[in-house]
Amino acid sequence: MSENLIIKGSNKQEMYKTLIPQIEALVSAETDIVANMANIAAALKQTFHFFWVGFYVVKEDMLVLAPFQGPLACTRIKYGKGVCGTAWKEARTIIVADVEQFPGHIACSSLSRSEIVVPITNGNNIFAVLDIDSEKLGSFDRIDADNLEKLCKLIAPKIS
Ligand code: SME
Repeated sequence: MSENLIIKGSNKQEMYKTLIPQIEALVSAETDIVANMANIAAALKQTFHFFWVGFYVVKEDMLVLAPFQGPLACTRIKYGKGVCGTAWKEARTIIVADVEQFPGHIACSSLSRSEIVVPITNGNNIFAVLDIDSEKLGSFDRIDADNLEKLCKLIAPKIS
């Protein structure tokens, strides 16, 4: 797999469509979970220029920071806290159009304005979340949720 992604399309649905198989190929040959999370975060950041993209992994009753791209971030999030801890507790993707309107949002950076968090499962067990932040309000919608959920299903065996 070359280190260069080839992204085609004039809208994000088309961009996800070309990106997801390339991420699948990127992680297929590698068994190390940290290496795979690191490249997945880089591929998403490189394609969409998100403000922050990364993983938090479940360790006992906490989410702990894992590979990411972007500014420094909070290292530990409790079950049920913030957007990440809520997505874990409720076992569902959460889209936040305006982080100031989400009770308990954890502001790792004051520049983050909107967010999407997708739980990653191994069977019925959530072992990590994918968290993406944007500096703009309302950056995420059903297209992001559907594609990121599809991506998380594909990559789950390679990062668990
Ligand atoms: N905003 C998240 C915390 C993680 S950072 O955005 C990287 C939350 O409320 O869970």
